[in-house]
Amino acid sequence: MNPSSVSALALFSLTLVLFHPEAYSQPAEANYDEAKVPKYVLPDPLLSTDGSKVTSADQWKSKRRPEILKLFQTQMYGQSPKAPDKLVWKVTSTDTGALGGRATRKEVSIFLLGELNGPSMDLLLYIPNGPRKPVPAFLGLNFGGNQAVHSDPGIKISQRWMRPSQDNSVTNNRATENSRGKEASRWQVEKIIERGYALATIYYGDLEPDFAEGWKTGIRSVIGSQGIRTSFKPDEWGAIGAWAWGLSRALDYLERDTAIDAKHVAVLGHSRLGKTSLWAGAQDERFAIVISNNSGEGGASLSRRRFGETVERINKSFPHWFCDNFKRYNTDEKSLPVDQHMLIALMAPRPVYVASAAEDLWADPHGEFLSAKHAEPVYRLLGKEGLGTEEMPSLNQPVGKTAGYHIRSGKHDVTEYDWEQYLNFADRHFGRAR
Ligand code: GCU
Repeated sequence: MNPSSVSALALFSLTLVLFHPEAYSQPAEANYDEAKVPKYVLPDPLLSTDGSKVTSADQWKSKRRPEILKLFQTQMYGQSPKAPDKLVWKVTSTDTGALGGRATRKEVSIFLLGELNGPSMDLLLYIPNGPRKPVPAFLGLNFGGNQAVHSDPGIKISQRWMRPSQDNSVTNNRATENSRGKEASRWQVEKIIERGYALATIYYGDLEPDFAEGWKTGIRSVIGSQGIRTSFKPDEWGAIGAWAWGLSRALDYLERDTAIDAKHVAVLGHSRLGKTSLWAGAQDERFAIVISNNSGEGGASLSRRRFGETVERINKSFPHWFCDNFKRYNTDEKSLPVDQHMLIALMAPRPVYVASAAEDLWADPHGEFLSAKHAEPVYRLLGKEGLGTEEMPSLNQPVGKTAGYHIRSGKHDVTEYDWEQYLNFADRHFGRAR
């Protein structure tokens, strides 16, 4: 190779890494062959660490559930601090005539330390105008700033740090006008409103910019430590913990917004933010439905199945996402005291939905299905039918009862099809079936 093609290649690789955070995490050696998945044995969600079998709902609630939650806290996502003593927020804009009069758009700054001069996150809300009573809602973090979820010119453009982008929607790490509506297909705002739900969303970078040192300008730098933070204990929260904590703070606010029926809030997220919605739903039982869209490794897919992304890969590519203890399992998944079916089981008896995409092999769709399936004993113990099926369904055939699942055709993304399933699922479980 001549020097100019070497530097062209280097430039090309750098561009890939800068603009596609996913690119450098998908090495050629990843296993995509089902026959090469090593044999594994999953931990029994109903077998307590003292060796006794859990046989009643009471034992699950008082003993095994707290035990599993603690294991995820200390070994994987890290322990998160409590909520601030007081909730402080400011409504910064309201427009009752949004989306051609169909919705009210509201922007609310939520102050994360309970102090007006402290760090904040900006919540964007669309509330349908028709209903006269509080409405159920979907809550999720977004990747590109609130203005990216819809082209509505009334949404404030986020001023926070953003990852560089190949189009001109971000310059100098700040979103531009061109970022408006960039993620609109992933949010389906009109459809959500039309079905009678509110949508609440926050830019995940408000809580922590997503890179290894991002915590230094995020909430992990100021919450949960005395004085200036320089490092984290091996079982303290990682970035996923920080993002999930923000979702709970958003729910604190929604509980105080009289337009919202906060007992019927579904938390959802895509990819790394799907890992986040699962972790938020596991810790905070106020979330009535928990939805994981293509969450993959560290989300819905089983860690013990070496298919697509692995524990080692994710910890190396994204060292800030989990707590340091999780790195102990990099090449030794079998010694993890938990696996992701137990994370799904932490949602029980609440409804949970796991969605995969056929071309998203990196996220291991089969492993995502198996997590939902192996949570079944816990749903049964609590008197519910979970997935209610043993077999992975064919493409675009949603299945399940209290645990829903589908594998959609196409790539790693959130699509209109995914939203239709989430809305139908929420209608069913919120008693709104049409
Ligand atoms: C990378 C990463 C995944 C993650 C995804 C995303 O592909 O390896 O674990 O889910 O990014 O968040 O887009």
